[in-house]
Amino acid sequence: MKKPAMETPQNKQLLILSHCPSINTQALLNALESGAMAAQTEALSIRSMAFIDAQPEDLSKASGVIFLCTENIGYMSGLAKDWFDRHFYYASEHCQAMPYAVIIRAGLDGTATSKAIASIGQGMSWNEALPTLVCRGEWRENFLGQAKELGEHMAVSVDMGLV
Ligand SMILES: Cc1cc2nc3c(=O)[nH]c(=O)nc-3n(C[C@H](O)[C@H](O)[C@H](O)COP(=O)(O)O)c2cc1C
Repeated sequence: MKKPAMETPQNKQLLILSHCPSINTQALLNALESGAMAAQTEALSIRSMAFIDAQPEDLSKASGVIFLCTENIGYMSGLAKDWFDRHFYYASEHCQAMPYAVIIRAGLDGTATSKAIASIGQGMSWNEALPTLVCRGEWRENFLGQAKELGEHMAVSVDMGLV
């Protein structure tokens, strides 16, 4: 006799989009990924890609997004901006209320990048799920723990449908 079909868990994906031009920012990404992976479940997968490689079909599979970028010359890094330029209309039309979180590595400030991403997120009707983490000033090892925690928190929130 045929076995009844197993109930498949709902498939969700947390997408991490990043631009990491230095050893420190690469370490931040590794920490973020390890936090998110720690909360991965059968129902939630984690995907991590560079902004420059991402296309709208990658976004279409996501149930939540984490952005990680640097601040350069008073604004988000050019490759992060390029992603918003290429995805703004798609994200506004097809991904309304998408939960997102942001990590900014800013050697000096980070305010302009934080405000710009919040404003673009509002424009796309996305849902800012967690307070933005700005890793500001001289490099500190505790940025890694903060990034890891944010990754885990976001993954659990998306998985459980809390955001
Ligand atoms: C050309 C250039 C411009 C920068 N402009 C800013 C800026 O406007 N605001 C800021 O907070 N940091 C600025 N920084 C510092 C970067 O945010 C920082 O170097 C980057 O996030 C990488 O971090 P790390 O140096 O710890 O590897 C700038 C760095 C470079 C190379």
